[in-house]
Amino acid sequence: RAVAVLISGGGSNLQALIESCALPDSAARIVLVISNRPDAYGLVRAREAGIPTAVVDHRKFIDRFDFESNIDALLRQAGVELVCLAGFMRVLTPHFVDAWRDRTLNIHPSLLPAFPGLHTHARALDAGVRLAGCTVHLVRSEVDIGPILMQAAVPVLEDDDDASLAARVLEVEHQAYPRALQLLARGDLVIEGEQVRPADPIV
Ligand code: GRF
Repeated sequence: RAVAVLISGGGSNLQALIESCALPDSAARIVLVISNRPDAYGLVRAREAGIPTAVVDHRKFIDRFDFESNIDALLRQAGVELVCLAGFMRVLTPHFVDAWRDRTLNIHPSLLPAFPGLHTHARALDAGVRLAGCTVHLVRSEVDIGPILMQAAVPVLEDDDDASLAARVLEVEHQAYPRALQLLARGDLVIEGEQVRPADPIV
């Protein structure tokens, strides 16, 4: 399946997806990386991997619709079938979400539905949770909501601060995102409305 990855920053999740899709048995092929920020280091990662890139700078468009129309056109031109948001910091309108419904994935650095939004690690530490982690989910119009494809949990340690917890979560993000993408691209996960189930339940 042809995949596009949308980024805004460093792209460590992009890097994990690039490495997963470079394996011979990959069911997904990254055909395009789009950033809304011209200075995103993830663009360097894509170029080093020989993947076509594009910058669609949201500041250059009169409104979200115009910004997204440009992204949509690039995706269609490249024959994209699945869109992975990876550190992409723009909220997508319901129009785009519906045009790419059940074909857009996102990774969020918390065990949703806990801690939607920003600063998830600081909030988890403040809440005194014992487990933290990440969620790979299908994108819906509401931010950080959507059918869950995969989650990965990590322990919160006594001496954790925001940075140490973020680093531990990022490690499992880099495992969960590629695995979720491969399962979806291979058809091993079936989406029925707001439910996701394995295609062949392990009997
Ligand atoms: C990660 O915590 C990811 O969960 C969130 O953005 C952070 C940076 O991601 N979406 P990346 O290193 O740019 O992939």
